[in-house]
Amino acid sequence: MRGRFRDFEHVLRVAAILAFGLVAFIAVRSWLVPDDFGVYGFFRAGALDDNRARPLAYAGRTACVECHVDVVEARRGSRHEVIGCEACHGPLARHASAEDDTKPVRPDTRVTCVKCHETKAGKPAGYPQVSAAEHAPEGPCTACHQAHRPKIS
Ligand code: HEC
Ligand code: HEC
Ligand code: HEC
Ligand code: HEC
Repeated sequence: MRGRFRDFEHVLRVAAILAFGLVAFIAVRSWLVPDDFGVYGFFRAGALDDNRARPLAYAGRTACVECHVDVVEARRGSRHEVIGCEACHGPLARHASAEDDTKPVRPDTRVTCVKCHETKAGKPAGYPQVSAAEHAPEGPCTACHQAHRPKIS
């Protein structure tokens, strides 16, 4: 029996290191984790207020409709009708709330149209796609297509 506990100091040392580690972990954790963490779930409750305080970037398409009735008419029945205005025009909440009276820039079609329509193997077969370099090597896509009603014939 004597022999089995002869070197028990080693065990005490390991136990002391583990105990110190545990205390240090609890101390650092309680210092770093904000008080309101976990009130509603696995996140900081104050994050909800932080998000609410951020300025809106997107107005949503119903906001555009009241002033741009002509565009709504142009889109009616076209396959682009389902696409949100700001998917092409970018975030325009400030413009829509009339806070900002600078006129929004028109999208560069060689960037915007190509982003959705460049041929890619992963796209579904029925999705309209072209190789921009072959289909229309230069100039804006709107030289032939109307952005809001793209089918030509
Ligand atoms: C309160 C009315 C109002 C709302 C809401 C509004 N607009 Fe406008 N928009 C205008 C006015 C006024 C102009 C300037 C027209 C001009 O100077 O020819 C304009 C201009 C534009 C232009 C530039 C037109 C051009 O001739 O180059 C774009 C693009 C545009 N708006 C997109 C949008 C989108 C997208 C939305 C929704 C997020 C939106 N607007 C919401 C009133 C509005
Ligand atoms: C598929 C992309 C796309 C969508 C979706 C889209 N637009 Fe446009 N829009 C364009 C492009 C590109 C132009 C520039 C056309 C040009 O230069 O001839 C434009 C031009 C405009 C203009 C300038 C005047 C005109 O009629 O050409 C207004 C205003 C406008 N868009 C508002 C809207 C609104 C409001 C919506 C949603 C109801 C919308 N757009 C949806 C791409 C789009
Ligand atoms: C946000 C993605 C997006 C952008 C940007 C976009 N399109 Fe489209 N386009 C679509 C979708 C989605 C369809 C319809 C697919 C469907 O009905 O299955 C479509 C359909 C089309 C069609 C087929 C129309 C028909 O009736 O057969 C043409 C042509 C077209 N787009 C041209 C353009 C041009 C030109 C631009 C730039 C002004 C553009 N698209 C920008 C998503 C986009
Ligand atoms: C010189 C005229 C012209 C230009 C410029 C042009 N297109 Fe087209 N595009 C056509 C014609 C014509 C068709 C076929 C008929 C139709 O839409 O009614 C077509 C069809 C399409 C289709 C539908 C393909 C399908 O399988 O249904 C897409 C998507 C398209 N174009 C995207 C673009 C994009 C993106 C640009 C700019 C990079 C562009 N087009 C520039 C003339 C043009």
